[in-house]
Amino acid sequence: KDISIIGVPMDLGQTRRGVDMGPSAIRYAGVVERLENLTQTIEDLGDIEIGSRERTTTGESNLKNLKAVAEASENLASKVDEVLSNGRFPLVFGGDHSIAIGTIAGLAKHYSNMGVIWYDAHGDLNTGETSPSGNIHGMPLAVSLGIGDSTLTKIGGDHAKIRPENIVIIGARSLDEGEKVLIKEKGIKVFTMHEIDRMGMAAVMEEAIAYLRERDTDGVHLSLDLDGLDPHDAPGVGTPVLGGISYRESHLAMEMLEEANILTSAEFVEVNPILDERNKTATVAVALMGSLFGEKLL
Ligand code: ARG
Ligand code: MN
Ligand code: MN
Ligand code: MN
Repeated sequence: KDISIIGVPMDLGQTRRGVDMGPSAIRYAGVVERLENLTQTIEDLGDIEIGSRERTTTGESNLKNLKAVAEASENLASKVDEVLSNGRFPLVFGGDHSIAIGTIAGLAKHYSNMGVIWYDAHGDLNTGETSPSGNIHGMPLAVSLGIGDSTLTKIGGDHAKIRPENIVIIGARSLDEGEKVLIKEKGIKVFTMHEIDRMGMAAVMEEAIAYLRERDTDGVHLSLDLDGLDPHDAPGVGTPVLGGISYRESHLAMEMLEEANILTSAEFVEVNPILDERNKTATVAVALMGSLFGEKLL
């Protein structure tokens, strides 16, 4: 693979400070050095520009920082599009999970039947109507389905970027009522912590990979929210939820994705060094990327 790193120092999709330093923390944890010998080439394109926090809410929208998030998403979508046009593998670092709106909009210019693995404690399937917080980082998966505020759904073209049947959510354990309704209505495949406990991660990943293969996807994107992991292993996140996926289970998941050779892009989000313990969460993210790109124990 030829990897191109894109940093997205975005913190406007939620209200805690510090997640804008995620890309720096991941770089500081040695990502380029770690992946260098595993891949053909790796380049770091630096960071996307992010606008400033809006202090006033205008219009009828209750979405926080809507305009600034939308602008940054447009920029990110163009960057991801450009990387793919150069035949390279986009590896995106957040920033909060609202950045997935831009990442997926850019990917959708190249893939018409893309699969998405959403590794997360949350569904991120809220809209302005169902959101308990107004935080856009709780909405990117809905937006990518074409559901929600048109300022966001029209980014990269006014159409749905992915199909509900091409999504696999892994690690869910905190879903809002509106999200549960949407999951059932759209038939989205979800492996909650219950299934991970019951089946084991190996069987979950086997099923997830087989499911996406059956869908005949032309690309598969991994959107990995570090809060999918247990806060014990990934404490530096803004919305931690107890009872998550372990570090070892996550390595296995990454190794199985690498073996299956289905991924065409990936993003690692929600690393917040202010809330972290000695950059542990960024270090975990980089270790998982090692497995994702073919690092072997022996
Ligand atoms: N469901 C909650 C909300 O909509 C939390 C979302 C957390 N999302 C995340 N990407 N960490 O506000
Ligand atoms: Mn989450
Ligand atoms: Mn998320
Ligand atoms: Mn322990």
